[in-house]
Amino acid sequence: MGRYKEIFAKSVEEPEAFWGKAAEGIDWYKTWDKVLDDSTPPFYRWFAGAEMNTCYNAVDRHLERGRADQVAIIYDSPVTNTIQKFTYQELRDLVATFAGVLKGQGVKKGDTVIIYMPMIPQAAIAMLACARLGAIHSVVFGGFAANELAIRIDHSQPKVIVTASGAVEGKKLIEYKPLLDKAIEIAKHTPEKCIIYQRPMVKAPLNHERDLDWEKLAADAEPAECVPVKATDPLYILYTSGTTGMPKGVVRDNGGHAVALNWSMENIYDVRGGDVYWAASDVGWVVGHSYIIYGPLLRGCTTIIYEGKPIGTPDPGAFWRVISQHGVKVLFTAPTAFRAIKKEDPDGAYFKEYDLSDFKYLFLAGERLDPDTYHWACKMLHRPVIDHWWQTETGWAIAANCMGIEQMPIKPGSPTVAVPGYDVCILDDSGKELGPHEEGNVVVKLPLPPGTLPTLYKDDEKFQRSYMSKFPGYYETSDGGYLDEDGYIFVMGRVDDVINIAGHRLSTGAMEEVIATHPSVAECAVFGTDDQLKGQLPVGLVVLKAGAVQDPDELKTDLVKMVRNQIGPIACYKETSIVARLPKTRSGKILRGTMRAIANGKEYRMPSTIDDPTTLDEITASLKELGYPKR
Ligand code: COA
Ligand code: AMP
Repeated sequence: MGRYKEIFAKSVEEPEAFWGKAAEGIDWYKTWDKVLDDSTPPFYRWFAGAEMNTCYNAVDRHLERGRADQVAIIYDSPVTNTIQKFTYQELRDLVATFAGVLKGQGVKKGDTVIIYMPMIPQAAIAMLACARLGAIHSVVFGGFAANELAIRIDHSQPKVIVTASGAVEGKKLIEYKPLLDKAIEIAKHTPEKCIIYQRPMVKAPLNHERDLDWEKLAADAEPAECVPVKATDPLYILYTSGTTGMPKGVVRDNGGHAVALNWSMENIYDVRGGDVYWAASDVGWVVGHSYIIYGPLLRGCTTIIYEGKPIGTPDPGAFWRVISQHGVKVLFTAPTAFRAIKKEDPDGAYFKEYDLSDFKYLFLAGERLDPDTYHWACKMLHRPVIDHWWQTETGWAIAANCMGIEQMPIKPGSPTVAVPGYDVCILDDSGKELGPHEEGNVVVKLPLPPGTLPTLYKDDEKFQRSYMSKFPGYYETSDGGYLDEDGYIFVMGRVDDVINIAGHRLSTGAMEEVIATHPSVAECAVFGTDDQLKGQLPVGLVVLKAGAVQDPDELKTDLVKMVRNQIGPIACYKETSIVARLPKTRSGKILRGTMRAIANGKEYRMPSTIDDPTTLDEITASLKELGYPKR
């Protein structure tokens, strides 16, 4: 039996023994009463009864083990021309001081803190400072509009919001403070304090009584010690797109999360303490949480906070420059980044300019890795290119080629096999298990391994409804796909209204909710169309209200602005077509899947429940006017 098979079998047959052993990689103030509390399925709790602190494990303990002078964080910002390094000792001091700042503002164990920040070290410091106090952080991605921030403020009810004065996004200067003020104006909940980190390129006005200056507070703060928390206490909430405008507040606990991420660093990514590991993502996404901050720091690696893009900052050699300059062993990014580089540097001329002798693996995730991009990356890099599949909900990979266990043969288009801990199956809609090559719902048999979501914040009922009720005994991933005869997983895409734009997860339902509020719009449908660079892009079809007098171009411009202002530029909503009616079933359900197939030039079967088949001809003509299908 291969090493992978043996380890996988142990992980699903004896999960308590398996994860109990993995938990030796974490320092505990008190060990668990039970490795897995499975007394109230589908709510499973790992390491029940144990006490620990995530910040202690990610920072302080490394000082006691000879890493005080090792670099913990490299901040590399081509947009501000800055490179700054922080040793573990320096990081500990900064985190302890900022934890003291938060404590001074009354933040304590169990309180929530929103962090709305660009890719600067202070974002990591704020996250770790929350973890140090046992406060629950909720990081909000900078590309979301004020309205999205307001939704998260109302749901998580933060005592304090931590932000920065602004950021350089590509070549644009973005001011965060006006967005924050607007969000607080929209929200019903008002935080007691806002702590603002002033950056040199833009000064934020501290124009409310609640506004405080990070540096001034830090100058007088008493460093705070790590507060023991229960392994099952929440470390963070990360909101992610669901099928409506109300995002899901994914909860991550402390103990299981630390055990799983620490285990994954060595077993999936093949890195150990002292290695330089770089996830080129953003702290606002789950990849940023798990693999810019917690995973590498728990393992004692050096992590990189990169404030730049794969192209244009300044050129498509940006990634190679960072890898070469900092001795990166593993790069983790989204396929979109590679498609962007490929477009600007198809022959890899920039790549050849750098010494990349430390670079061992490229890991990709966030969206499907199309075989073209895979082959191009292989041809250029001459290193393993590893696709792996996961979700905000799981917090770490469900399927991967685990480089630290055994390198399996790669099948392009597949993220390889289930990671130890995840018992993946394919079920049809009635819950029947399907055989090799039969496409259906990808599910994971319960219990999920440590580090995955124990519930949704303040909403156990929605957690059950969203993930656990359709297939009792299984976690529903909402991805469709199949397994082959060797157990390789092929993920074909979401089966719900979630789309993936440049590796970012967005909800078409949320876009529809925004568009439907336009006074001229009677009804609308938004769906994802295939895009060569960003994977998917949204297209909206709208039906006007009877008698609505509206210039079509003006309407389209209005809708673009509305989605930008209410969801954010990151939604990339640009295309609208006005149609006379939408195709529906006889019971009134809009046939989004059929429209998506038409736009993408895919074959589709005429739905037997369609109300009027001629609507599809009209939709085909409207999409053709927009230029669909593209190829
Ligand atoms: N703050 C504010 N605005 C942001 C933002 C942020 N943090 N991130 C993106 N935006 C804006 C962009 O400026 C752009 O605005 P525009 O419509 O005014 O031009 C819009 O949101 C869309 O951004 P993006 O999808 O990033 O497109 P782009 O054309 O600027 O860049 C790529 C294209 C491919 C280079 C870029 O999408 C990329 O780097 N992708 C990799 C994604 C990734 O790492 N994902 C992480 C998952 S692992
Ligand atoms: P997010 O929660 O933002 O990480 O997005 C999760 C979704 O992205 C998954 O449900 C998939 O649809 C998609 N996804 C992530 N990684 C992959 C991958 N390697 N292959 C295919 N789809 C992926």
